[in-house]
Amino acid sequence: MCGIVGYIGHREAYPVIIQGLERLEYRGYDSAGIALYDGDNLKVSKTKGKVEDLKSRVDKEITSSGSIGIGHTRWATHGVPNDINSHPHVSNSGNLVIIHNGIIENYDPLRQELINRGYTFSSDTDTEVLVNLIEDVKKNEDVRLGKAVQIALNQTIGAYAIAVFDKTKPNEIVVARLGSPLAIGVGDDEFFIASDATPFIEYTNNAIYLEDGEMAVVRSHKKLKIRKIKDDSLVDPYIQELQLNLEQIEKGGYDHFMIKEIYEQPDAITDTFRGRMLVDQGIVRMAGIDDNIEKFLNARRIIIVACGTSWHAGLVAEYIFEEFARIPVEVEYASEFRYRNPVIYKDDVVIAISQSGETADTMAAIKLAKKQGAFVFGVCNVVGSSISRETHAGAYTHAGPEIGVASTKAFTTQITILTLIALKLAKHKGELSNSEFRAYLQELERIPAKVTEALKCNEQAEHVAAQYKDAHNALYLGRGYNFPVALEGALKLKEISYIHAEGYPAAEMKHGPIALIDEQMPVVVIAMRKGHYEKVVSNIEEIKARSGKIIGIVTQGDKEVKKLADHVIEIPETLEPFTPLLATIPLQLLSYHIAVMLGKNVDQPRNLAKSVTVE
Ligand code: G6P
Repeated sequence: MCGIVGYIGHREAYPVIIQGLERLEYRGYDSAGIALYDGDNLKVSKTKGKVEDLKSRVDKEITSSGSIGIGHTRWATHGVPNDINSHPHVSNSGNLVIIHNGIIENYDPLRQELINRGYTFSSDTDTEVLVNLIEDVKKNEDVRLGKAVQIALNQTIGAYAIAVFDKTKPNEIVVARLGSPLAIGVGDDEFFIASDATPFIEYTNNAIYLEDGEMAVVRSHKKLKIRKIKDDSLVDPYIQELQLNLEQIEKGGYDHFMIKEIYEQPDAITDTFRGRMLVDQGIVRMAGIDDNIEKFLNARRIIIVACGTSWHAGLVAEYIFEEFARIPVEVEYASEFRYRNPVIYKDDVVIAISQSGETADTMAAIKLAKKQGAFVFGVCNVVGSSISRETHAGAYTHAGPEIGVASTKAFTTQITILTLIALKLAKHKGELSNSEFRAYLQELERIPAKVTEALKCNEQAEHVAAQYKDAHNALYLGRGYNFPVALEGALKLKEISYIHAEGYPAAEMKHGPIALIDEQMPVVVIAMRKGHYEKVVSNIEEIKARSGKIIGIVTQGDKEVKKLADHVIEIPETLEPFTPLLATIPLQLLSYHIAVMLGKNVDQPRNLAKSVTVE
């Protein structure tokens, strides 16, 4: 993972880089570092901990920072998070300095070769090997930095987004990417380098996203040249105009990004179907589907690949696709799919779901499916992300930037877009009549207002949170469409409060988890009036009989669960397939409040990162 930032131009580099690092902390926050050249000296500061730790150390030291620099926020892969392993890394001569997001897999033999040639290493990182390899090539081949980077990278195996500069030639930064994202912000006589566009959005709307296998030498007063790392051929730079604005990436008065993003869901869901769902005309319009409709209609099956919360959205989609479109669906962890030998047919449609569009395992699963001839459709949130470019076609969720590491609005918007797709296919296949189709669209259109209504349970969720914040375990149960919601509720609690939680299909409880139930065990049960209600009530009885504490997530006006449960949280009624969009709201709020009460870092939980670009 890791976030990288760089700047070259006419501004003070330090404020641009440090602020950029703050925005990229979602990518990792084990340690942070910065390298600046002030005209005389190369200053490298790095520390274990967060960007604010780096800032409090560096702020005092910096008077003039010069106008070239690079910075890094780390999610450790090689070497424990400590000051020495933090980036940037400097070459043995002290001239070259590098930041790196990714993994150099063959770093060990390269390191041995360099040791044999007299190089020494102070860190355990693959990155320090890379910067010295570049130095070695530069010295031996007597080439410029760009060429040295290119030759060195052609000797590596692995993934990278790097930025490197030479303090003896501080008028250029060399950047390259393979497998990890790298965006270049193009200003007037200045360039910004970053893992995504958020660090430079207030300076420029123009961005170039390097493609895999490309590199560039960035000089402030010169035009940018992009080359292929492998064969040195020139590539025409494609400058995109970004739609992102600063407000979207700030907290806007909320204490945490997570709660802001929970509250953004009514708008985010509306943005997902805006312009796509024409309820009056009874039409769902989506270019990525319309242009490939035959592929979907003739699909032998749909295979969904994803990780984490996106995988949970995939599970909800399985129910929805099979119910509406009657197409068989398999949902796979991308990390498992890619490492077995899956049977993929040419008439399979693979849907890859990813908020960030950068998850390495999902990306690898896509490549595998493409190689075997399947049509691959991407559902991503981040516009221009690697997955959105690697897939044959796709649809953006348009949820806006999600910064809290625990995913919230990405989940509900992924379900929304997948529902739209399923409904559209159902209509094309004649599985739904016009009036049924329209009725579903009408109800989907009401969902944002119902989510707003569901959000009113915030205080109640806080009250419940106060009673269970000290629990060591929790069980989440749901059936049918809400089984994946139970999984997602448990994941939210684990991620941010570090309380062990398990999601389970309610009926499966009696095959194991029931043994865990005693008076200490909070059991969150999703018991919507639509869909297996009586069965879930029976499951609740079973929990009650064993003195478990029951928190029921119920439909407004519920009577039966109320009689049995210790607490109930009510949400508005909707059609059964849409209940996940509402049932998930109290679960998000519950975990949020528990984590806040426990004093945890809600937006940056330990050991996690938002974008997992390592395998
Ligand atoms: C990480 C994040 C999760 C996310 C998962 C998949 O684990 O912490 O919130 O669900 O990656 O990410 P993606 O961007 O592919 O949806």
